[in-house]
Amino acid sequence: MPNPPAPHPGVPVLVLNGPNLDLLGLREPEVYGKDTLAGVEALCRSTAAAHGLRADCRQSNHEGVLIDAIHEARTAHRGIVINPAGYSHTSVAVRDALAAVALPVVEVHLSNIHRREPFRHHSHVSAVADTVICGAGSHGYALALTHLAQLLEANR
Ligand code: DQA
Repeated sequence: MPNPPAPHPGVPVLVLNGPNLDLLGLREPEVYGKDTLAGVEALCRSTAAAHGLRADCRQSNHEGVLIDAIHEARTAHRGIVINPAGYSHTSVAVRDALAAVALPVVEVHLSNIHRREPFRHHSHVSAVADTVICGAGSHGYALALTHLAQLLEANR
């Protein structure tokens, strides 16, 4: 008889990537770097595991799908790392969803949005995030998960 699948250990956290981040590695590599989304997600899973977390990684190009994932996180996850991408600058609805679920939130941007076009300088999400990390490239996700682990430890 085959063994049943081992349960995934670790505290579940959601890593949510927004529109166009499925094209990481191909998309403006001089701005966003050469790492693919699969590479970033692997980094998230290994960093999470090193801190006793389990990263559940999702990406969508659709605002409503991102909002549904945030709602699901209310019962399925203990914290959220989110790169809302273009929706950072436009979506009151993503911001409201994060406020509604009241989980620890770390917002990540690969690029330094403050050094770019003025329309990128404001993120609706930052007002409901515990922490904002930008300009560290894909390493920002490792920083975000390390910090989320600390936030969860502090809230225990
Ligand atoms: C981004 C920055 C946003 O302004 C942009 O729309 C993105 C990616 C970043 O990771 O640097 O899609 O969130």
